[in-house]
Amino acid sequence: MSLEFELQKYPKQIKLKDASACQFRPLRKEDEKKFHEFFLAVPAPERMFIKHRVTEPDVIRDWCRNLDLGRNLPLLASMQGQIAGVATLHQQLGGWKRHIGRVSVLVLPQFRGRGLARALVAEIVAVARNLSLEKVEAEFIGDQEAAVKMFAMLGFSNLVRLEGYVKDMQAITHDYILMGLDLKTDEEYAGMG
Ligand SMILES: CC(C)(COP(=O)(O)OP(=O)(O)OC[C@H]1O[C@@H](n2cnc3c(N)ncnc32)[C@H](O)[C@@H]1OP(=O)(O)O)[C@@H](O)C(=O)NCCC(=O)NCCS
Repeated sequence: MSLEFELQKYPKQIKLKDASACQFRPLRKEDEKKFHEFFLAVPAPERMFIKHRVTEPDVIRDWCRNLDLGRNLPLLASMQGQIAGVATLHQQLGGWKRHIGRVSVLVLPQFRGRGLARALVAEIVAVARNLSLEKVEAEFIGDQEAAVKMFAMLGFSNLVRLEGYVKDMQAITHDYILMGLDLKTDEEYAGMG
């Protein structure tokens, strides 16, 4: 299925487990200010684990002005007029990993514990499946236990754990964890024989 067709289903209204309403839709260039505010609201210790310098307005401006949803698809969750969370599907579009999507997720503390991250990841995995990706993966540092637990609940399994392999933005080393989920169904495999 084409990305264009897939994106037609947004905006999409979602109800979380505490019955609060939420809207899912892809990032737009007009979101620059709100998306920057979103990252400023992430607690500083957690920001250390984000791979980009997201507090710098230029970084977010560049993302919003040069949107390439085929490569990076940030799916925003809006609640009470604010960006509450985001799940992103990253695609390589070529090379050895062209059949593997990478998923990441981040939810602001005040919106946690009501199933938002789980709903966002389930949604972005469904998008990956509809785009005919064969696998999705997610990367973590050893301390992100809540996230690892949540991805495991969604069917991801641990592929790799490398001790002291990565460094956060303060150059402190952490374990690296790679989790993955196979999107091919048994019937698809059976049909390939
Ligand atoms: C991890 C994170 C995404 C969870 O967001 P959330 O919206 O609170 O998650 P959900 O409410 O959907 O929780 C789903 C499940 O994850 C688990 N979980 C979530 N937070 C947890 C925590 N702090 N401790 C233990 N388990 C936790 C629970 O089992 C929960 O299931 P339950 O609702 O049946 O109890 C959020 O804490 C976050 O953004 N953390 C920082 C960024 C990060 O680690 N990102 C992952 C890197 S890809």
